[in-house]
Amino acid sequence: MSLTREIAKRRTFGIISHPDAGKTTLTEKLLMFGGAIQMAGAVKARKATRHATSDWMKIEQERGISVASSVMKFNYRDFEINLLDTPGHQDFSEDTYRVLTAVDSAMMVIDSAKGVEPQTEKLMEVCRMRNTPIVTFINKLDREGQEPLDLLTEIEEKLQIECTPLSWPIGMGKAFRGVYNLYKKELHLFTAGMETSDFETIRIDDLSDPKLDEILGHQADELRGDIELLEGAADPFDLDHFLAGSQTPVFFGSAINNFGVKELLDAFVELSPAPGPREAVERTVTPDEPDFSGFCFKIQANMDPAHRDRIAFFRICSGRFERGMSVRHHRIGKDIKIPNATIFMAQDRSHVEEAYAGDIIGIHNHGTIKIGDTFTTREPLKFTGIPNFAPELFRRVRLKDPMKRKQLHKGLVQLSEEGAVQIFKTLLTGDYILGAVGVLQFDVTVERLKTEYRVDADYVSTDFQVARWVTCEDEKKMAEFRRLFEMNLAEDGDGFLAYLAPSLWKLNYTIEQWPDVTFHKTREHI
Ligand code: G4P
Repeated sequence: MSLTREIAKRRTFGIISHPDAGKTTLTEKLLMFGGAIQMAGAVKARKATRHATSDWMKIEQERGISVASSVMKFNYRDFEINLLDTPGHQDFSEDTYRVLTAVDSAMMVIDSAKGVEPQTEKLMEVCRMRNTPIVTFINKLDREGQEPLDLLTEIEEKLQIECTPLSWPIGMGKAFRGVYNLYKKELHLFTAGMETSDFETIRIDDLSDPKLDEILGHQADELRGDIELLEGAADPFDLDHFLAGSQTPVFFGSAINNFGVKELLDAFVELSPAPGPREAVERTVTPDEPDFSGFCFKIQANMDPAHRDRIAFFRICSGRFERGMSVRHHRIGKDIKIPNATIFMAQDRSHVEEAYAGDIIGIHNHGTIKIGDTFTTREPLKFTGIPNFAPELFRRVRLKDPMKRKQLHKGLVQLSEEGAVQIFKTLLTGDYILGAVGVLQFDVTVERLKTEYRVDADYVSTDFQVARWVTCEDEKKMAEFRRLFEMNLAEDGDGFLAYLAPSLWKLNYTIEQWPDVTFHKTREHI
């Protein structure tokens, strides 16, 4: 059946990494393998323009760059690949987390000198929520870095995931000679400064082959020693463990030299899963069901501020999307015709004629779509697992014109529904506290309040450092908790109660003291 065939060839993934590990460089090389050659330099150019908020806003408005590259669709071999951008650097935001709820797998890029860095740890935590399978690429082998075995140990310990190398590096930095592909039993030789996809490949079935000494000299014995050590230390690759998110196959290379990237991409398309079933409140939905269903995981605004033009990104979960089809917007109970959904090719944007599970489509939104909304052609469904994430940064909003309080409220509620920022209204004073995971979210919010809602506001700092949503089955206990912590309690945009703490230490102490209260790090959208 064609639906099954379409699903089987799709791969939808995101890249998780800490800034500067090489995500942009790797993305560019992946797109080049996908035939989007003209992209070389373009992804990078976009990154280079991310200096200040004003630049960022201007660029967004003028060229819509970030929308075009939020999803990069390309073909490779027989596969249709959707690469979802996970914004990093200054534009790191809750979107970065939420994108990971819409993927079926992830690629993790680690800088061989720096090892596991904080942002990777955070993103990994999000992947773990859905046991997302992860393929690892250890980058920058052309530079001096940590010993490969130490890196694997660090990944295993810090990220709690079993590593199984499928390739192994020979030397590093100036002495980097290439990698030995353990599952294909091939030696890939590296030549510095040669950016090509055709590095020399030599088949070596048996590592005791003297050919290895001829090619690698004294490094042949080093490689033999390493592999011997590995055979005793590392677990063999297990597809089930990989698919369950408990084991990651590891590749080594150098993105900038395009070395090891094709190998990574080949293994990735072969091993990583096609779109799978998704949980809805009502039941599990499988991708090959004939009826269309999908959920919104991201809203991108400011394409044209005069029209408050926004694009809602939907991940298709089942069935077939066709241009012009009508779908049911269940939260508001209305049917919506979608004449012009956009599909995002790496090079440009084009109208979608048809799309399948795993694909991402962009739908114009005039303020009626919220993050987490589900569209279907028939059955009422509500997909789960697209939550709000507890903010890590806080600001108190200061309204410059007190007469504009109503507009401020409206603006903040809408912006929070789009996932641009989270709002919390304190129980005691009714002040608005904004929560975010990236600082740029605050700047964008103030800017958008001004341009879209004509509200002048700025921020003052707060003492809050950490937030958790709180629930308790025992009403009496909850009432007591509310009374005692009134100063630290606030309602979010959907009216859910959150506890805002001045420090992680204080949060942990409160958690210990209040065993009947549950503190949640994420909250599902309603
Ligand atoms: P990011 O998106 O994860 O933030 O990383 P990005 O690709 O921008 O790479 C960060 C820096 O690391 C860039 O250098 C890039 O050229 C370099 N880089 C990426 N892959 C490799 C590699 O395999 N080997 C080496 N040696 N460097 C690599 P930059 O100086 O910040 O930028 P640029 O001036 O090179 O553009």
